[in-house]
Amino acid sequence: MARGRHPTRIHIDPPDAQTAAKYLYCWHGCDLFREPHRLPRLTSRELFGNDRPLEIDFGCGKGILACSRAGQYPEINVVGIDQSQKPLFCAVRDAAELKLENIKFVRGDFYAMLPLLQPGTVNKAYYLFPNPPHNIYLSRANVRRRLFLQGIHDALIPGGLFYFATDVPSYFECMYDILKNSIMFRTPDSANVDSGISTPYRQMWEQKGRPFRSIVVEKGI
Ligand SMILES: C[S@@+](CC[C@H](N)C(=O)[O-])C[C@H]1O[C@@H](n2cnc3c(N)ncnc32)[C@H](O)[C@@H]1O
Repeated sequence: MARGRHPTRIHIDPPDAQTAAKYLYCWHGCDLFREPHRLPRLTSRELFGNDRPLEIDFGCGKGILACSRAGQYPEINVVGIDQSQKPLFCAVRDAAELKLENIKFVRGDFYAMLPLLQPGTVNKAYYLFPNPPHNIYLSRANVRRRLFLQGIHDALIPGGLFYFATDVPSYFECMYDILKNSIMFRTPDSANVDSGISTPYRQMWEQKGRPFRSIVVEKGI
């Protein structure tokens, strides 16, 4: 990871068993690859037992955006996915302190969770300030990236929204190219649309005066 992207060391204890059972799933790679049918699917019905609109934050970090959305909109459900344990412990702590009933966190690799997405079940998907890859010119990596975006597209309801932002211009161009040319998203005429959605990484780059680019695309009806 490049300088300036290292998260500071997080000191946090794991949640107690009851809190973890309420808020946190841990899905290991071997289960995701070998036995995905044993895991709940990433839908409101299977994770929350209701059919409320669902938002998923891919790479949620400490869950700041996820907790904020869940607190602000109690009529929706929110899922935050991340592979890092300690940031998720922070997310779970905050969700418990806020007594949120409409949020879950999943620890694991979101690429491996694509089979758990179901068509037409997600209202909004966020992929904000992901760690910038070094392989944007590698066609095999872009196939994987395209499959990820296609999986999100298929999971969205008609009219559902996908949010992406990054501070790396070449990565933005790569993603914009896939979104515009390979996948049936409606892309805005301008290749830079600020959703106004704030996350810790956005705030960090803003404080450092580092520009970033973002886009919101819509799944067609
Ligand atoms: C740079 S942070 C951004 C956090 C947050 N979205 C924000 O904007 O503040 C990227 C996060 O994505 C997570 N991540 C990266 N690749 C992942 C993967 N394949 N599966 C799950 N999480 C991943 C990292 O652990 C990290 O917490």
